[in-house]
Amino acid sequence: MHLWVKRIGLATLVLLVAIQLIPVNRNNPSVAPSQTIYATLPMPAEVKEVFERSCKDCHSNETSWPWYSYVAPISWVIARDVHQARKSMNSSEWGGYPINIKTNKLEEICEQLTNGDMPDRKYTLIHRYARITAKERDVVCQWAEDSRQY
Ligand code: HEC
Repeated sequence: MHLWVKRIGLATLVLLVAIQLIPVNRNNPSVAPSQTIYATLPMPAEVKEVFERSCKDCHSNETSWPWYSYVAPISWVIARDVHQARKSMNSSEWGGYPINIKTNKLEEICEQLTNGDMPDRKYTLIHRYARITAKERDVVCQWAEDSRQY
């Protein structure tokens, strides 16, 4: 019994060390200032503040990678979230989207905030400051509605 506990403990330790060697992509691709959502859409300060505070770690090329994003297996979850989020809506590359995609993403932004799917819950559990208020949601939705003509 005792020996088994030791063996399992040791095996777990070896595994935890070994998985640290698997490379994780924590890139922050360069940002062309003229292509950001801030440069291409008129945006009230309050909306920009929400994006910067609650969305940009996942939905931009300016992610702050915390220390635990260097620790597997947590790093895998974080990197996967960031890369999926950038693929679905990247505020650093907004200028390159065709108009129909922009319109669709603007609708999605309000929808995701309204149904509570965004900002991501795993994220707001740790980054409590990233939660958004009902008032902020309304301001973002109004801006998204107004911006669909651009
Ligand atoms: C912890 C990372 C994270 C944060 C923070 C985050 N998101 Fe996301 N978001 C994701 C991921 C991952 C997806 C993709 C989900 C999928 O593809 O299933 C996503 C999807 C979306 C989509 C869906 C796009 C589409 O067309 O379906 C929108 C819109 C969105 N997020 C908006 C936001 C906004 C606005 C904020 C800030 C208020 C935010 N997100 C914060 C990770 C995040």
